[in-house]
Amino acid sequence: MADIILGIESSCDDTSAAIIKDGYLLSNVIASQDVHKSFGGVVPELASRAHELNIVPVVSEAISRAGIRKTDITAIAFTRGPGLLGSLLVGTSFAKSLGLALDIPTVMVNHLQGHVLANFVRQVDKPVVEPKFPYLCLLVSGGNSQIVKVNDPLHFEILGQTIDDAVGEAFDKCSKMMGLGYPGGPVIDRLAAQGDPERFKFAKPHVPGLDYSFSGIKTSLLYFVRDEMARDPLFMENNKEDICASFQKALIDILMDKLVKASGQTGIKEITIGGGVSANSGLRTRLVQEGQKRGWNTYLPEFKFTTDNAAMIAIAGYYHYLAGERAPLDIAPVSRAADF
Ligand code: KG4
Repeated sequence: MADIILGIESSCDDTSAAIIKDGYLLSNVIASQDVHKSFGGVVPELASRAHELNIVPVVSEAISRAGIRKTDITAIAFTRGPGLLGSLLVGTSFAKSLGLALDIPTVMVNHLQGHVLANFVRQVDKPVVEPKFPYLCLLVSGGNSQIVKVNDPLHFEILGQTIDDAVGEAFDKCSKMMGLGYPGGPVIDRLAAQGDPERFKFAKPHVPGLDYSFSGIKTSLLYFVRDEMARDPLFMENNKEDICASFQKALIDILMDKLVKASGQTGIKEITIGGGVSANSGLRTRLVQEGQKRGWNTYLPEFKFTTDNAAMIAIAGYYHYLAGERAPLDIAPVSRAADF
């Protein structure tokens, strides 16, 4: 009999539900929350309330688009963390209640594991192109910047991570301070495509090993823009494309330097990226170029699987389910990865 997994994701500001049948995606529904736009960042309490409103229609839609009945579901995979506690509570409680009502098991998933396994979501109309184990994943999002060594679907090691801000935070905060809008990543990505990446130079951090730091470059960009604006109030308006292109290039250089180092140290040439920032066109192009130069096999997730989505939670949950794992009914969400 087929294994049909309902995945539920509610760790931040996207309510998502997906159905996977024997590893193949049948549906993936995402309700994004516009309510945060006017605040220039995610407001946790508003996110939890929006999840409460969205969760039932989103899950119903995922079931109906998949063309199944809810009684066909074998197990429910839900994001236990890391993320915003109130938001996670909605998905976790809903998954446990539905599991109880349908008398089927639930499986808990680490959100980060979902991102690193995003390439394993199979689609009926697309060829199967999956990295071979072990592989390295550059996991870059609004809350994380890590290099992860994935040994098999259930076991991974973090080889390096940010010691301060995540790279997505650097995109978002700088965009907000420069008055370019939120979320900053897509805005900077779009403007950078029209600018000269060599025009301005930003100091790079010197962090030992495979760890990252993004707070210094963020501050240096903000001081630079402030000083130039004091001299010429139209500086930002007249140079925003070049500023974005140069800033984005600096961030990509930092990310790639450590990824190249990690590949050299481990000898692993199977390379993937994941997380919201992996939608960045400059980073994707650079990864492919670097891969060609170094003989890597590079795997880029489709755009719809880069940002938060339940398909990646369902596929990660599927592997946990096959391994016989089940979530106890008293399981609680966790906000930090370290508490998982
Ligand atoms: O994985 P994700 O959806 O969730 C959280 O970590 O919450 O990542 C969101 C992050 C934001 O920082 C956003 O600015 C960034 O991903 N992002 C991008 C792009 N699209 C989204 N960053 C750079 N370029 C993009 N095209």
